[in-house]
Amino acid sequence: MHLLILSRKASLYSTRRLTETARARGHVVSVIDPLEFSLVVSRGRPQLFFRGQPAEHYDIVLPRIGASITSYGLAVVRQFDMMGVPVLNHAVSIARSRDKLRAMQLLTKRDLDIPTTVCTKSTAYLDSALQLVEAPPAIIKLHQGTQGVGVMLAETRQSVQATLESFWSLGQDIILQEFVSESKGRDIRVIVVGGRVVAAMRRTAKRGEFRSNLHRGGDAEGLAKLNPKYAKAAIAAAEVMALEVCGVDMLETRRGPRILEINSSPGLEGIERATQKDVASAIIQHAERYYRTVHGKHRKGAYRAPSEVFEQERGTPRTRATRRKSARK
Ligand SMILES: Nc1ncnc2c1ncn2[C@@H]1O[C@H](COP(=O)(O)OP(=O)(O)O)[C@@H](O)[C@H]1O
Ligand SMILES: [Mg+2]
Repeated sequence: MHLLILSRKASLYSTRRLTETARARGHVVSVIDPLEFSLVVSRGRPQLFFRGQPAEHYDIVLPRIGASITSYGLAVVRQFDMMGVPVLNHAVSIARSRDKLRAMQLLTKRDLDIPTTVCTKSTAYLDSALQLVEAPPAIIKLHQGTQGVGVMLAETRQSVQATLESFWSLGQDIILQEFVSESKGRDIRVIVVGGRVVAAMRRTAKRGEFRSNLHRGGDAEGLAKLNPKYAKAAIAAAEVMALEVCGVDMLETRRGPRILEINSSPGLEGIERATQKDVASAIIQHAERYYRTVHGKHRKGAYRAPSEVFEQERGTPRTRATRRKSARK
């Protein structure tokens, strides 16, 4: 198989691990920065150019799209989608997971527990918003933050108001969220690949910090045995977002897992180190299965066409029965 990894740098840990693993399994691997592709859109024919020439053929694309290039990176992934090249993950799924509000909205389609989240554009009804999220204190998040940047804890009504107003004046969209203090700076990160849990770790924030991200100095401990409730929630979250490869962050509470976010390009370094699991191999093996499924060489498999992935964002759950009904109309 000729595998393309869309990544800004071949030397990044996750990119390197995926490249080495795929080569060891006999595949040809190209690592290209998505910014090096040009998109060509003309009547009925989406194309990609690389260094001024039509790009070569790839059998499957693994996007590792960093937050700094989301919009262009996603356009490149979408172009591959449009050209019929299988991508792990679809552009629409990546976009959904990048936007924390959109992700929370989608999670409500399943009976998945999340911290109560409010999005508002004015402080006129701040008191009711604060009541809804049982604040203060409250968590305030940028829609598009990652690695803990853009996640804040506001301890008083005044600081909530001042923070909201500052971000609005900068044109940033934010969400207000219930602060789940009971999890005490700990959370669980689960890697789900092709609908299966492949690794899990518990992260603990450093002293004086509530964010457990490893980039914020958090500690990681591998979980040899993941509570089945957490595994089930992580798999359901990956499914509702239609992500083939993802990291699901959950808070541990007495009432069970509460999902915080789903990451479409989860880092491999922290989790492989903490769990001693070969997550890169799990991803490459899934890419092989996915490729076979797309090409019909394998009957079982989770391949979903982009159109099917799009459909999920509608109001009513699309069961087989409702689909038949709307087809008859
Ligand atoms: N509602 C919350 N209650 C308690 N802790 C939270 C909450 N939201 C986020 N955190 C903490 O902050 C960290 C980062 O938040 P997250 O939503 O995952 O954003 P990021 O994309 O920056 O990782 C989480 O891993 C968790 O430790
Ligand atoms: Mg996170």
